[in-house]
Amino acid sequence: MAELREVQITEEKPLLPGQTPEVAKEAELAARILLDQGQTHSVETPYGSVTFTVYGTPKPKRPAILTYHDVGLNYKSCFQPLFQFADMQEIIQNFVRVHVDAPGMEEGAPVFPLGYQYPSLDQLADMIPCILQYLNFSTIIGIGVGAGAYVLSRYALTHPDTVEGLVLINIDPNAKGWMDWAAHKLTGLTSSISEMILGHLFSQEELSGNSELIQKYRNIIAHAPNLDNIELYWNSYNNRRDLNFVRGGDTTLKCPVMLVVGDQAPHEDAVECNSKLDPTQTSFLKMADSGGQPQLTQPGKLTEAFKYFLQGMGYMASSCMTRLSRSRTASLTSAASIDGNRSRSRTLSQSSESGTLSSGPPGHTMEVSC
Ligand code: BEZ
Repeated sequence: MAELREVQITEEKPLLPGQTPEVAKEAELAARILLDQGQTHSVETPYGSVTFTVYGTPKPKRPAILTYHDVGLNYKSCFQPLFQFADMQEIIQNFVRVHVDAPGMEEGAPVFPLGYQYPSLDQLADMIPCILQYLNFSTIIGIGVGAGAYVLSRYALTHPDTVEGLVLINIDPNAKGWMDWAAHKLTGLTSSISEMILGHLFSQEELSGNSELIQKYRNIIAHAPNLDNIELYWNSYNNRRDLNFVRGGDTTLKCPVMLVVGDQAPHEDAVECNSKLDPTQTSFLKMADSGGQPQLTQPGKLTEAFKYFLQGMGYMASSCMTRLSRSRTASLTSAASIDGNRSRSRTLSQSSESGTLSSGPPGHTMEVSC
């Protein structure tokens, strides 16, 4: 007969009632450090699997901040300088962050097999509900750059109730026209894929200046082990269709939008986008001294603008603002739209010398100064 033995079962984690507050605090801190390092997850979607990294913990009654990067980058190379910027910390501590990597762009991603059908930008947008469902998040504030800005806009058009706000950096809402295609084909004859992508991300002036930042990104892209995957995302971007925004129509963004464009990025697209969105909900920010990638070159200015954007949505009390921000003046001002008609759209333009957010032409102005 089998002998009955006494087995001692020990809890690996001490039970909470016996825990001293100090121990509980340490455990919480350890858990938070883990979460602050980012936890990477993958979910299956009808268009293949998608990887995303979550930082921070969900905050009740607050949307998640969800980012989508541009072609040639991943969430880290696109957003790390912004999200690790010192002044950004007081903002993001109030939000859980979800950083999406477009398929095949995550660190260590294997190269897709030959003939793999990469998702279109519309299909990339259709993957986002799977991510939110997996995380059980109901609403987001999106931050997208270039192709990522397009993907988030498409998502917002199809799921307006889940998007509380959008920061769209260097968006081009239009499909390539035949002139663009001709230019693209010609460039393709003489340039490598990595040079073409660098030309999409940065201005010619920046590229020929060859600053440390340009050298870094040139190196990242030219030597990317997943360059073939990057080319597939690039092709999807070039094959995008028009977002067809119509002011006042069904195809328009219903949430507050901050359009951001670097001073050396081609900004006609964003200006046109501005003219097609609800002027009472849209701010347009042309950022001085920022080149093609403001989130990399001017994280401080972008942080400040983002703070005002969140405040406008009722998420950041002015008491949360840093002394630096409080000492500055922000003006949200009525401006004449490009077609010369008076518009109630808000223009935020930034002057780098004074470090102020200065207003456009006077009119319907809200000043925030302390
Ligand atoms: C974040 O805290 O959200 C973050 C940290 C590192 C890279 C990107 C984002």
